[in-house]
Amino acid sequence: MPSAGQKITEIPALAHFLDIQSLTNEQFWGLLHLARQLKEERLRTGRNAPILAGKALAMIFEKPSLRTRVSFEMGMQHLGGHALHLSSVEVGLGKRESAPDIARVLSGYVDGIMARVFDHKHVLELAEWGSVPVINGLSDLSHPCQALTDIFTLWEQLGNLTGLTVVYIGDGSNNVATSLLEAGGKVGMVMRIVAPVGYQPDPALIAQTDADVTVTDDLDGVIGADVLYTDVWTSMGQEAQHARHVADLSAYQINAQLVAHTRNHDVKVMHCLPAHRGEEITDDIADGVGANSGDSLLFAQAHNRLHAQKAILAHLLGGVPLG
Ligand code: CP
Ligand code: NVA
Repeated sequence: MPSAGQKITEIPALAHFLDIQSLTNEQFWGLLHLARQLKEERLRTGRNAPILAGKALAMIFEKPSLRTRVSFEMGMQHLGGHALHLSSVEVGLGKRESAPDIARVLSGYVDGIMARVFDHKHVLELAEWGSVPVINGLSDLSHPCQALTDIFTLWEQLGNLTGLTVVYIGDGSNNVATSLLEAGGKVGMVMRIVAPVGYQPDPALIAQTDADVTVTDDLDGVIGADVLYTDVWTSMGQEAQHARHVADLSAYQINAQLVAHTRNHDVKVMHCLPAHRGEEITDDIADGVGANSGDSLLFAQAHNRLHAQKAILAHLLGGVPLG
């Protein structure tokens, strides 16, 4: 308890959740603690307090989704609120109607907007022009909801995150890799990107993160990994480049040989899903079966999307403080 006269330092509230880098370490940890609290409440009592009763979230999807769509919708329901799914055909973001106009219209109907977009500029415009919180549900640049979940999952599994060596292998330039790098920096993890030239993160982006980052195209970069992470080689919207990406990245598959090469039989294996099994990851590793399969966290990650996103919703739409 603070003594009389002692100032309590509050963690500043977030206006939006657009990327990881714009959060302070304290805000990031605040969301992790809130996610843990909401998960424990749900597991212990079978329910969450209806802190979002009467609140609505509009969800704009320009791309397909399973996890993001269902976990946000169920998250709103668990917290007593309501979610509306708006497809790109209905909304026509930037085509039928501009992002600034959509933001101003939706702000009169709902209490928050979650958007999955092709062009990151559109989530920024929704946040700038609307008067309700905006959540980035994946853009060409970043996937912050996924990164929050992934760190939450590692924290839950391993306890201590400081100094943990996380190796991201494959397309190290994509949205998931970018947000993971940023998140790793927030919690003191050691980040390695193992990817060929052309699939490595932008050095300017690395310079902005607080992370200890090494980038290499050498597969020896996986040696000593505590965590091996991968994602699809062809992200949504890049389908025309699929054959070239497969040819360029085929040596960077997570398979039994690569897991053995980490020299860590218990290496945690992560993937945001959906997986292109047989491309970036083999079935045995994804399912965690057989010798040299490591410890697959794929479905723990997927399930934790629900809890991590409830924390974002509870804070942004429900005003629950971060500490
Ligand atoms: N990981 C993830 O965002 O999954 P969806 O594309 O199914 O939402
Ligand atoms: N990098 C992938 C992530 C999917 C959740 C994509 O953008 O398609």
